[in-house]
Amino acid sequence: MTSDVTFVIFGATGSLARTKLLPSLARAVIGNGISNHAIIGVGTTNRSNEEFRDIVRASLDDAGIDLECAARFLDGTIAYQAVGGPGSYVSLGDLVHTIESETGLSGNRVLYLAVPPSKLDTTVDGIAESGLDTSPGWTRLVVEKPFGIDLATATESNRTIHRVFSEDDVYRIDHYLGKETVRNLLVFRFANALFEHTWGRGQIESVEITVAETDGARGRAAYYDESGAVRDMLQNHLTQLLTLVAMEPPVAMTADAIRTEKVKVLQSARPIDPDDVVIGRYGGGTFNGTSFDSYLDEPGVNDASITPTFVAVRMFIDNWRWQGVPFYLRTGKMMSARTTHIIVRYARPPVCLVHAPDACPGHQNILILRLQPDERFDLLIDVKEPGDTLEIIQIPLTVRYDDILADAPDAYQTLLTDVMEGDQTLFVRSDEVEASWSLYEPILDRTDLATYAPGTDGPDSTAELVSTFPMAWTPLSGPESDSSG
Ligand code: BG6
Repeated sequence: MTSDVTFVIFGATGSLARTKLLPSLARAVIGNGISNHAIIGVGTTNRSNEEFRDIVRASLDDAGIDLECAARFLDGTIAYQAVGGPGSYVSLGDLVHTIESETGLSGNRVLYLAVPPSKLDTTVDGIAESGLDTSPGWTRLVVEKPFGIDLATATESNRTIHRVFSEDDVYRIDHYLGKETVRNLLVFRFANALFEHTWGRGQIESVEITVAETDGARGRAAYYDESGAVRDMLQNHLTQLLTLVAMEPPVAMTADAIRTEKVKVLQSARPIDPDDVVIGRYGGGTFNGTSFDSYLDEPGVNDASITPTFVAVRMFIDNWRWQGVPFYLRTGKMMSARTTHIIVRYARPPVCLVHAPDACPGHQNILILRLQPDERFDLLIDVKEPGDTLEIIQIPLTVRYDDILADAPDAYQTLLTDVMEGDQTLFVRSDEVEASWSLYEPILDRTDLATYAPGTDGPDSTAELVSTFPMAWTPLSGPESDSSG
């Protein structure tokens, strides 16, 4: 691990930086024993160094970080530079060089872009103008999601970045990849031969990936209304889960080998059938005794908005392993429960030896990988009900990952540590981000929004997606107890 780093954060006072990035940066600096660091915040509003330092302090405090323990972090150089006016990027370059030479920093730089996609190109051009891309140490560019707003903008942003940085120095963030349980998917799949041998069309009937949230867009509408469920969640977080579930074993556990296999999944995905998509938007209503505004009535949402807050899609991966197996992906805001889970439904027994024949097809093994909020794996298996009967009951074999997860670093801390170590495994490569946009391009501008009530599992029409397949969406309220078939 490097001993000194300069962090230059573009968009340093935005909500992402305040709520997630700055606290995780403090944890990463402290946790990795970085002995010398500087934080240079960059934004479009004029602020003094002291004002920015106050923002950093408040952000750590809000995140529950003990400010005494973080004293060494807060005592490091914390400075601020406004950009936008003529020569401002050159001034930023001068500021960073001065700080580095005065504080003995060796020029290892993390340039972190927490800016909207529309600002990416000008910011990268500004970095080139500032000279920050060349230094006596290493320079790494970190780019927050969403990377572009469609295939054309993502491709253009890749071009802009590659004019200044080599792909080996670019770290596209998807914070889901930093979650301990998501990283564990790789180990789960490739360290347990038991599952790997059954992982594919011969044994698996369907795969469901759900990321459901109970919150609406309140407080973030300005960002969210430009983005929506497809751009904000499906194209990145759910797609990352899909690629990790569906990828082939990599030739080695290296960044490029793993990322190459993930890209192949997206390249094998069948173009999405328009009939296999449901998009929706929450209406107003009462949930758990509280009344909620409809999405359109949320402060900051455009009256003419056509932004979806829910999307469900059925996909197929046309390769040898997955041919014919439906992948159901669903995400939404203001839903009945907060849960992120992957549900793998195994094939049913071909003959029914021990059960009343009419009930037999209902039973199948189901593997539930629950990623949040309570991290656990359940494998539902059939056992004989005790007593003088041959009735079958389904019980879970459970691994409670959250029992051993107490001290796991948060996702951003993990990813920032990897950036400092130069490990790109958990970051999205340029070809991967383009393949992902290309897959969803045909559904980006769908306007046929179905309304759903707050506190539900989404629009009723979602059920139609599964009508030709022998399964139902798993109720958000408790997949581990579900045995529907
Ligand atoms: C962010 C999205 O990337 O992920 C948010 O912009 C979403 O809209 C969030 O709420 C979900 O992340 P997590 O870690 O809470 O599941």
